[in-house]
Amino acid sequence: MKTNSPFDLDNTSAYEAWKQEKLASYPEKAEELVVAINNPHQLSEAEKQALTKIYRKNNMAVYVSESGEDPDKDIPFDLAGQFGLCNLNKNMGADDDGITALRVQHDALHKRYIPYTNHAIHWHTDGYYNSPEQQINALNLHCVRPAKQGGENAVMDHDVAYIHLRDENPEYIQALMQMDAMTIPENVIDGEMIRPDRAGPVFSVRANGRLHMRYTARAHNVIWKQDDATQNAVAALDRLLKSDSPYIYRLTLQSGWGLISNNVLHDRSGFTDDEAHPRLLYRSRYYDSLV
Ligand SMILES: [Fe+2]
Repeated sequence: MKTNSPFDLDNTSAYEAWKQEKLASYPEKAEELVVAINNPHQLSEAEKQALTKIYRKNNMAVYVSESGEDPDKDIPFDLAGQFGLCNLNKNMGADDDGITALRVQHDALHKRYIPYTNHAIHWHTDGYYNSPEQQINALNLHCVRPAKQGGENAVMDHDVAYIHLRDENPEYIQALMQMDAMTIPENVIDGEMIRPDRAGPVFSVRANGRLHMRYTARAHNVIWKQDDATQNAVAALDRLLKSDSPYIYRLTLQSGWGLISNNVLHDRSGFTDDEAHPRLLYRSRYYDSLV
């Protein structure tokens, strides 16, 4: 039965209307995502409106504050709260307050996870291994200190990835919306089950009607459905993310800068630290969406 959703493959007219609005005046470079702000704890109405306008278009926005290397976690926390983000996901590795300090760590708990190393991280959305009830709808990064070299993020609005794939072949979307398209294998450490297998779609529709995406390019982390449709769709997505698409933005957050997003596709390049002043980013994952 046809629904009103633009993500319904049977509703071409709703999709075309949504796509046209989505891509009209779509930013062509990362600089267009940026808003300079004064006090992250209390934005002015104009600053808030400017950021809102940008993320409603792109599912993400970048603020540039003067907070510099101030390590106060209330900076990202308060800023997010002003956009209705308050239900933090406390993932393993997060600090007690639910905000994760991303820096190179060598202890046993952290070192097996790439975010806590200086290695490159392939394209993904956050929390793709979470249960369907605990999907991460918003993802924020706040930079206290960049690396000496590297640590660049590439970001891509998942709405645009969807458009690209649907226009190339709607069967890709059909395959990637299957409930068993992508299975994240269980995580067992020292005989203890940390997480069971998690099967789910790549693309799904959030409760608020917006598009949601689960994805990781790390072959080691995922079992793709073994049918041609899924394999072809995953290959097409991989080609897109490796392409020089103008919709892929690259930016290196500087001290006091941050990204707020609806958990868009992103990667991170490897980096080299200044040992005395290592890279430090705060990552916050929310069950809420930016709306
Ligand atoms: Fe991430």
